[in-house]
Amino acid sequence: MTASNASITTVSLPYGTAGIAAAAKVIAGGGCVAVPTETVYGLAADATDSRAVAGIYAAKGRPGFNPLIVHVPDRAAAEALAVFDDAAARLADAYWPGPLTLVLPIRAGSGIASLVTAGLPTVAIRVPAHDAMQALLRATGRPLAAPSANASGSISPTRAEHVLRSLDGRIPLVIDAGPTTQGIESTIIACVDGQVRQLRPGPIPHEAVAGLLGVDIGGAGEGIEAPGQLASHYAPSKPVRLNATRAQDGEWLIGFGAVAGDDTLSAKGDPVEAAARLFDALHVADSADRQRIAVAPVPEAGLGAAINDRLRRAAVPTG
Ligand code: TXA
Ligand code: MG
Repeated sequence: MTASNASITTVSLPYGTAGIAAAAKVIAGGGCVAVPTETVYGLAADATDSRAVAGIYAAKGRPGFNPLIVHVPDRAAAEALAVFDDAAARLADAYWPGPLTLVLPIRAGSGIASLVTAGLPTVAIRVPAHDAMQALLRATGRPLAAPSANASGSISPTRAEHVLRSLDGRIPLVIDAGPTTQGIESTIIACVDGQVRQLRPGPIPHEAVAGLLGVDIGGAGEGIEAPGQLASHYAPSKPVRLNATRAQDGEWLIGFGAVAGDDTLSAKGDPVEAAARLFDALHVADSADRQRIAVAPVPEAGLGAAINDRLRRAAVPTG
């Protein structure tokens, strides 16, 4: 799947045995499918398959890589991917399955693609309550990464028709189960380093969470940028130089296409492959025994724009 795949025929199937079987087949083949949850329709792909996850970004035309929510069928599946502290365990007991996403430290060896977490050491997880998403999770046996199923800049879809309005011709399949019940995206709570913070307001009010835990979690909106708080973006610890065609002394060069480098995002110059490898390549470069990182030019077309957005952020000194 490429970024300019505006020629796929999008099929809409009603939620049911045949629809879920067809959706599971698309996911097993590394594709993405729009499926309802109780909040909004999600655009789901295998969270352990980096190319499949890159396909989500390609279909949405997102100008950058935000970390995505991983959907799992139950608490046990979530525990296999992330580390729950006491607060997280109590929140999961109280609200799962349901419209609560927990941002938790990722478990080593979870298998979640680094493009899902955008390179962060945490992962956003939820157990959805909707039968269709539950059926798809059980049919695939995979954790499913799923942002809202709308093109970048469009409003979140609460009906299959909304999905088609912005993604028709860009995804192979929509499972239609009528309107969603909640209509707004899940509440996101981070339980990291012994602290509990709301990262996004949603159907579960922060007062309810605070009451349950007996702590103030802040009612702020999305995005935590204050020093010492949860990092919202992964950035390498070393200086990064962009548009490099050869390595200077002390640089680890991440190549692309004809620029070979010490490592490459994609030797054949494929932006989907490059997106899939981006965060792994940055982590490898960060732990290499060179003082600085250089990255070859990546053309802006398709996913290239999102890759370059992320590289420009990586190149800004974080201090
Ligand atoms: O209701 C929902 O949550 C819907 C349905 C489909 O489940 N999904 C959804 O996903 O809204 P998305 O990708 O549109 O929103 C993901 C949010 C973003 O705001 C992202 O920044 C945050 O989750 N997020 C994901 N992983 C994170 C992490 N490791 N740390 C902090 N924030 C994270
Ligand atoms: Mg969204």
